[in-house]
Amino acid sequence: MEGTINQSTKNKFGQYFTPKAVADFMIEMADVSPHSKILEPSCGEGVFLDLLQQKGYNRLTAYEIDQELAQKFSCVKYESFVSAKAEEKFDLIIGNPPYIRWKNLENDLKQELSANPIWVQYFNSLCDYLYIFILKSVELLHENGQLIFICPEYWMNTTHSASLRNYMVQAGYFEEIYHFNETPIFDKVTVSIVIFKFVKSKEKKEKIRVAKFYANQKLTVETLKNLKNQIPFKEAEYLTVSQFKTNERWLLQSDETRRELSILESNCIKKKPNSILNLFGEGKTEFHAIGDFCDIGNGLVSGLDKAFQVNGHALNENELKATLNVIKAKDLKPFLAKGITQYIFMPEGLEEKDFNEIYPNFYTHFQKYKTELENRYQYNRKINYWEWVFLRNFNLFSKAEKRIFVPCKERISNKDHFRFALADEGIFPTQDVTAIFRKPTAKESIEYILAYLNNPIIFDWL
Ligand SMILES: C[S@@+](CC[C@H](N)C(=O)[O-])C[C@H]1O[C@@H](n2cnc3c(N)ncnc32)[C@H](O)[C@@H]1O
Repeated sequence: MEGTINQSTKNKFGQYFTPKAVADFMIEMADVSPHSKILEPSCGEGVFLDLLQQKGYNRLTAYEIDQELAQKFSCVKYESFVSAKAEEKFDLIIGNPPYIRWKNLENDLKQELSANPIWVQYFNSLCDYLYIFILKSVELLHENGQLIFICPEYWMNTTHSASLRNYMVQAGYFEEIYHFNETPIFDKVTVSIVIFKFVKSKEKKEKIRVAKFYANQKLTVETLKNLKNQIPFKEAEYLTVSQFKTNERWLLQSDETRRELSILESNCIKKKPNSILNLFGEGKTEFHAIGDFCDIGNGLVSGLDKAFQVNGHALNENELKATLNVIKAKDLKPFLAKGITQYIFMPEGLEEKDFNEIYPNFYTHFQKYKTELENRYQYNRKINYWEWVFLRNFNLFSKAEKRIFVPCKERISNKDHFRFALADEGIFPTQDVTAIFRKPTAKESIEYILAYLNNPIIFDWL
């Protein structure tokens, strides 16, 4: 069905439709009767409406901004839920709201938000379209009404959603949360997804049931059933955690880990807050960042790694000098690297004739890659085919000091650690590696910083 939707409409409105098994699972999470009033605020093709009707729930209301969708349901109002003057209250609000970062919103949607009192009161241009769907839905619940949504998890811990979190903590409590990491639930959506059940209530329950599923596998009815019943299996983790509080990030971690993280955070607060520029006037506290203690730079770009690796060549004396010891991201492990690769690294300013004469083995080696090398992105310069294309941060890397390397990008969802590794002076990082150097003003040694960064609590925090 998704294929039938005009691509630009799909992007504009954040159209990702919920698989039937997931929608069914979410409806089963609800605690409602046939008389309950139910709202689907952004119904898409109507997967929730269809199932709700089949299950005998008939007091349904829905909104959808795209007139081409869900036409078979008489309960759908084709207007924006954001601006809708919805005054009646509901027992259950269920669905999969759109999520679009402000910067990706079309102008008409931005204008609509800017004119919306809820948006103006709680949010700003660093927020997401999703936030107003959650907050307005909570407003529209009866006391003890339930909100069951599937959506990305980022609003649970980003700085700019703090107002939404604080609003929710005051309005009620969470009953259960399912966290799906890596699981491909929606086409082309790579963020982690959560399903949550929130109850609007003056009385709070003490604990939240959390189930996490860590697998790059399609979500099946069977998996969902097992998660619901907290059946142990390899990719699942179950926790019971205390209700979230105001002014904290909502981390789906045990209470003990959350306590440790809050100690860590309070130790990281800058001691002289007034001296720090507060760009958005929002963060009440400013944390120290690693950049306060360290210089940081991303590695060198060869433009064609395979051409620059010294692969068992017989080398003359000049050639031996024209090499660089390099560590690549794939070689990094926590604390130490697995290995060093020797790369060809020619001095700048050579003529091709001299290159051939002084470095004959390298010259021959480069000929088979010449066309590919000449077609590298040239950064608006003319770069000889035997030279690296971008020596960014070369001076930093040339310091006579030990350094810490970490992959620039890391898929951490199936790991329980990062890979910060110590490297000796004279070892250079490739472009997929970020290098960290102790600033002369830092009191701690590079080994201390390494141990700190590899501490499991830092992984939990990030
Ligand atoms: C992520 S999709 C989910 C659709 C449906 N709830 C489902 O689960 O399959 C979000 C839907 O919200 C609709 N939408 C976007 N902005 C809206 C708005 N302001 N008011 C109502 N619906 C909106 C989109 O057209 C899209 O169909």
